[in-house]
Amino acid sequence: MGTLKGRNFLTLMDFTPEEIRHFLDLAAKFKKMKKEGVSHDGLRGKNIALIFEKTSTRTRCSFEVAAHDLGMQTTYLDNSGSQLGKKESVEDTASVLGRMYDGIEYRGFGQERVETIAKYSGVPTWNGLTDEYHPTQILADMLTIREHLGDEKGKKFVYMGDARFNMGNSLMIGCSKLGLDFVACAPEKYFPNKELVEKCRKWAGESGGSITLTEDTASAADKADVIYTDIWVSMGEPAEIWDERIKDLSPYKVDMEKMNRASENAVFMHCLPSYHDRNTEIGKEICERYGFDDMEVSDEVFRKYRDVLFDEAENRMHTIKAVMAATLGFEG
Ligand code: CP
Ligand code: NVA
Repeated sequence: MGTLKGRNFLTLMDFTPEEIRHFLDLAAKFKKMKKEGVSHDGLRGKNIALIFEKTSTRTRCSFEVAAHDLGMQTTYLDNSGSQLGKKESVEDTASVLGRMYDGIEYRGFGQERVETIAKYSGVPTWNGLTDEYHPTQILADMLTIREHLGDEKGKKFVYMGDARFNMGNSLMIGCSKLGLDFVACAPEKYFPNKELVEKCRKWAGESGGSITLTEDTASAADKADVIYTDIWVSMGEPAEIWDERIKDLSPYKVDMEKMNRASENAVFMHCLPSYHDRNTEIGKEICERYGFDDMEVSDEVFRKYRDVLFDEAENRMHTIKAVMAATLGFEG
């Protein structure tokens, strides 16, 4: 394996299976150190910038806590508190930040924006979610699978919902690199794009995994080890598309009937946040409009698997720590 020091973390496509497994092993090591109270602040004196053009709870807090545990200082920048977008281009902002910071996290819209930051900052740049990819989430998901089900290789991983956006794309890439049997279960128009599917089929061929695209929820859920979903309308998408999404994706809601088809030890996973009840502004409004109690996952399923779901959320921090540490040259 080559060095990870100095690398960007923009999509898992750029990493070999060995490198991805290394991030997971390093995350598990940092997690153990943290639980045992062993200090791991080998990046003292470094500073990182966290750019959020979209909102976040898990990703922002993970970068901040992980950075502080590693001994680094952070600066949080959003649209309201910086010149980015309105008065200064992504290119110029990156050029400025690259002179001051040792690493930059970016969450926002098109993947080209995080690529521009990487190009013009000249420091390791980490993708905290774009429309196309959410690679740090996939590391957390894989670590959680290891903890709950053992070795990820050979597991049947089913993604139900909008499989052509950041989560569907990134899970397919991660599964194909690590040898899982990935199933995208959605109406055909929500399948990931053909070019990406072809690339992933090649990686799956090398890793012993497979890629299946299907509209049939029963065969997809059958003997699954993991059933995963995400919200039906992602950040940055217009509110007007709720009608269409509800019509198209309601049959793909993860409920107990689907979980009962899965293998005995199967788990339900979700990147979160989730509309599994009416206890959010948007969840309440949409549920009232359509007469639902929950959306992409039933509240019953969500609550049954809440230990897994919140381990998954916690693992965002440990895996993001591994990504920052390895790319900044600290292996713990
Ligand atoms: N899963 C995830 O990225 O959550 P946040 O939007 O809260 O960061
Ligand atoms: N697809 C979701 C993922 C959130 C973590 C979004 O982009 O809003």
